[in-house]
Amino acid sequence: MPDAEFEKARRRLASAASVAVLTGAGISAESGIPTFRGAGGLWKNFRPEELATPEAFARNPRLVWEWYDWRRQAIAKAGPNPAHRGLVQLEQAKPRFTLITQNVDGLHDAAGSRRILKLHGDIWHLRCTACGADWIDRRAPLDTIPPLCACGAQARPGVVWFGEMLPPGILDEAQRAAAAAQVFLVIGTSALVYPAAALAPYARRSGATVIEINLEPTPFSDIVDFAFHGKAGDLLPKLV
Ligand code: OAD
Repeated sequence: MPDAEFEKARRRLASAASVAVLTGAGISAESGIPTFRGAGGLWKNFRPEELATPEAFARNPRLVWEWYDWRRQAIAKAGPNPAHRGLVQLEQAKPRFTLITQNVDGLHDAAGSRRILKLHGDIWHLRCTACGADWIDRRAPLDTIPPLCACGAQARPGVVWFGEMLPPGILDEAQRAAAAAQVFLVIGTSALVYPAAALAPYARRSGATVIEINLEPTPFSDIVDFAFHGKAGDLLPKLV
C-alpha cells in the first residue's frame, strides 16, 4: 500500500466530524473467532446460508443450535483486539459517530463502544419460538440443545437469519448515519450480504469518503475511495 495514500486517508478521517463505520466478521478474526467465508470459516462443511435460515431451524433445530453453540464457545474464549479498541477511540474523538455491525459476537460492547447498531442481533440473546420471551444466556457450551424457554417451548438464537427482517428501526438508523457521514469506514466484511452491503455504496453516493480495510479485495474495493489490504488489528489503529 502506498504510504501517501494511507496518509491521505488518515488525514481525511482526522478532519471529519461525522463518521460511520460498518464492521463484519473480519474485525473479530484476530480475536480468534472464525469468519463465515474463507479459510477456517466453515463448520462441518456447511455454508452459513445453509444454517442461518428459518428453514434450516425448522428442519433441524439441533444442527443449527450445535453450530451456534460452537460459535458461542469460540466467542466466550475471545476478547476484543486492537481494531475493536481503535473504534472506541474514534467514537470518543468524533462529535458524530455511528458504529454499525453485522457481528453478533458482542466484542464491540466488550471493547467499550457505546452506540452500536447491531444489524444481525446478538448471539447471547435467546428468544422463545412460542411465547416470544427473550433473555440473555451466556453459558457456553449450553447445557441443553436446543435450549428451552420457561414455557417449555424451544428457544432460538436472537439473531437475524437470511430471509428475515432486520430489527425494526435499526436499518433506518444505519442508512441515516451512512447518508450523513463525511467518512464511512468498511472493515472486515466480504460485502456479499444485503442490506448491509448496500450501506457503503449509499454513503458514497451521499458524498462520504469511503475507506475499506480488508485482508483481501472485495466487491467494494473498486468503488471505494481508499482500499487498504491487511489485518484490521494492524491497519485500523494506524488510521485512527
Ligand atoms: P465474511 O466471513 O463473509 O467475511 C469476512 C471478511 O473479513 C472477508 O472479506 C475477509 O477477507 C475479511 N478478513 C478476515 N480476516 C481479516 C482481518 N484480520 N482483518 C481484516 N479483514 C479480515 O463475514 P461478513 O462479511 O461479516 O450473517 O458476513 C456477513 C454476514 O454473513 C454475517 O453477518 C452473517 C453471515 O452469514 C448472518 O448470519 C445473517
